[in-house]
Amino acid sequence: MFHAQLLSLFPEFFTSPLACSIPKRAIAAGLASVDCMQIRDFATDKHHKVDDLSYGGGPGMVMKPEPVVAAITEARRRDPGTHVVMLTPSGRQFTQKKALEYVDKGHLTLLCGRYEGFDERICDYVDEQLSLGDYVLSGGEPAAMCVLDAVIRLLPGVLGSSESAVLDSFSEEGILDWPHYTRPEEFDGKKVPAVLLSGNHGEIEKWRREQSQLRSRRRRERGS
Ligand code: ADE
Repeated sequence: MFHAQLLSLFPEFFTSPLACSIPKRAIAAGLASVDCMQIRDFATDKHHKVDDLSYGGGPGMVMKPEPVVAAITEARRRDPGTHVVMLTPSGRQFTQKKALEYVDKGHLTLLCGRYEGFDERICDYVDEQLSLGDYVLSGGEPAAMCVLDAVIRLLPGVLGSSESAVLDSFSEEGILDWPHYTRPEEFDGKKVPAVLLSGNHGEIEKWRREQSQLRSRRRRERGS
């Protein structure tokens, strides 16, 4: 079973996404388990302080090393094989390839920060720093949930054959999915491409391959 631990100041953030759709099914089927830890529970001072002013000045609060490192230590004690990933906009960018790597690892701890970021010394206690993309979220939680979702749907047995991940966009490096259509045959004057209604499976496969390549090339040219 794949095991994930989430370290966060807002563990309730994950309640609804983990109780929906594919993550819910994977957890119910015993293919994945997810534990959330409240970082604040690891603060030892009277006020359970988890953040403080930035040395050198400037706006915003920085997450303190003591409670965060104590939470990481507890995550490693509970699951000694776990791979600890810090979510931060300054990390390496998440990709489908990374999601597949995490599936192989089998245990993952995702560390989410709030405020202006983590005290730099915390970096020495994680295995990897990961970013969802070149934009700033208000915290690591939405990024961690995206990573976890991308991993869970790849676990063997999670998707049925009709949802198979094998044909996904990106399952081949950089190759996007082809366009999909369902009923009605005509919507607002827009028709489903005739080849898809032809029943000619060879032609359909060829069209889909061409469309995938066309999309992938256009996306690369736009650089987006
Ligand atoms: N925390 C804030 N922004 C983030 C991002 N883009 N990726 C990962 N963690 C983040």
